[in-house]
Amino acid sequence: MSTPFMSLTWTDHVTGRRGFLVVDRLVRGVCSGGLRMRPGCTLEEVAGLARGMTMKEALHYDPRARYVPLGGAKGGIDCDPRDPAAYGVLVRYLRAMRPYIADSWTTGEDLGLTQDLVDRAAAEAGLTSCVQAVHPLLDDEAAARGRLTAAFAVEVDGIGLDALVGGCGVAESVLTALDAAGVAPADARVSVQGLGTMGGATARFLARAGLTVVAVADIKGTVANPAGLDVEALLAARDAYGTVDRAVLRPADRELPDDAWLSADAEVLVPAAVSYAVDADNQARIRARWIAEAANMPVLADAERLLTARGVTVLPDVVVNSATNAWWWWTLFGDIGAVGAADPADEAFAHTRRAMRALVGEVLARAGRDGTTPRAAAHALAADRLAEITERFGWYAPDASA
Ligand SMILES: NC(=O)c1ccc[n+]([C@@H]2O[C@H](COP(=O)([O-])OP(=O)(O)OC[C@H]3O[C@@H](n4cnc5c(N)ncnc54)[C@H](O)[C@@H]3O)[C@@H](O)[C@H]2O)c1
Repeated sequence: MSTPFMSLTWTDHVTGRRGFLVVDRLVRGVCSGGLRMRPGCTLEEVAGLARGMTMKEALHYDPRARYVPLGGAKGGIDCDPRDPAAYGVLVRYLRAMRPYIADSWTTGEDLGLTQDLVDRAAAEAGLTSCVQAVHPLLDDEAAARGRLTAAFAVEVDGIGLDALVGGCGVAESVLTALDAAGVAPADARVSVQGLGTMGGATARFLARAGLTVVAVADIKGTVANPAGLDVEALLAARDAYGTVDRAVLRPADRELPDDAWLSADAEVLVPAAVSYAVDADNQARIRARWIAEAANMPVLADAERLLTARGVTVLPDVVVNSATNAWWWWTLFGDIGAVGAADPADEAFAHTRRAMRALVGEVLARAGRDGTTPRAAAHALAADRLAEITERFGWYAPDASA
C-alpha cells in the first residue's frame, strides 16, 4: 500500500482515548471519508479505510457527471460508542480536527456513529457542516446545500434516505452478480452480519427483491430462520446502535451463537458490521457462493485467497459499499435532487442502481478478462481512473497550488 498523504494521532486530554485521521490523497484540495468509533480502532485500520475511500471515489468517476471525485480519507476514534463518555470524546475529536474539516476533509457517519450524532457534535465543535470543505468546489453553494438538506429529510418506510442508499447499492451489487450467474433472486438466500445502517438497508432491499433473508447478526448474536426472517419487523425493533429487541422474534425464529451468521446455509453472505470478520480459519465454515462486502475490509487477504480457491466470489468493499459516499456527491454536485424532481427517493434509488449495476458489471467483466479476482479488477479500474482524475484535476485546486 502506498504511503498516505497525511496521518495523525490525537489523544483526548480528558479521557486519554485516541483518535486518528488519515488523508490518503487529495483531489482539487479535498478528500472524503467517514468517521468511525469502535473500541480497538487503530491507525493502521484507518489508513486502510482511507485508501479504500480513494478507490471508491475514483471508481465513480464519470466524465459526463457534475460530480468530480475527491481524494480519500478516514477518521477513527478508539472508544465504545455506548460509553457514557463517547459523545464528549466525539465533540473534542471534532474540535481538534476542525482545521482539516473546515479546509479539506469532508466526513460523515460510519461504524458506531449516526449522521445525526456526527452533525450535532460537529455543530457543537463550531463547524458549519461536516462537508463544508467541498463548498468552494460547488457552482451554487446555497442550492447545493438545499438539495442535501431536502434529501436528508426524505424517509422511506421509517428509514432515512441517507441510511438507505448504501444498502440499495449493496443489494444491487448482489443482484448484478446473481444475474451474471443466471440465479433468480427467489432462489437465493442471504445471511447478513450487522443490522445497522448498511446491514439493515441491505437486508430490506434484498428481501424486497425476492431473496430470503435466513440469518442476521448484531452485537448480541445471530437470529435465524431457514424459512426467512421478517426483515421489516427486525428493522423496526432496532435501537440507535442497530441492536434488535429479541421480543419481536417469532416462534420459528431461532437465536444462535454470535458467529452463526457466517456458516448459514445461504447463497449470499453480507458482512455489514466490523472489519476483519472473515479470517483464514473461519472462512472454512462459509457455505455461500458470494460474499458482498457491505462493511469495510471484512475479509482478510489470506481468507480471500482460500475462498477464491474453492470458488467463492468476494465482491469487494470499494465497489459494493460505495453508494452512500457517491450519493452525497451526486446530490451536492447536482446530478440528482433538482427541486421539483418527481420523487426524490425513487430518483436516488434509480441513479444508485444504474451506477452500481454498471460498475459491478464492469468489474466482473474485467476480472473475467484478466483472470483475476473482482477485487484485483476493481483496484486496476480505480488505478486507471485515478490517473485520469489526477491528470485532469490535480491534487490542489488551481488557486491553491503550491
Ligand atoms: N454507514 C455508512 O454509510 C457506511 C458506508 C460504507 C461502508 N460502511 C461500513 O459498513 C460497516 C457497518 O457500518 P454501519 O454504519 O452500518 O454501522 P452501524 O453502527 O450502523 O451498525 C453496525 C451493526 O453491526 C453490529 N455489530 C457490531 N459488532 C458486531 C459483531 N462483532 N458481530 C455482529 N454484529 C456486530 C451492530 O450490532 C449493528 O447492528 C462498517 O464497516 C462501515 O465502515 C458504512
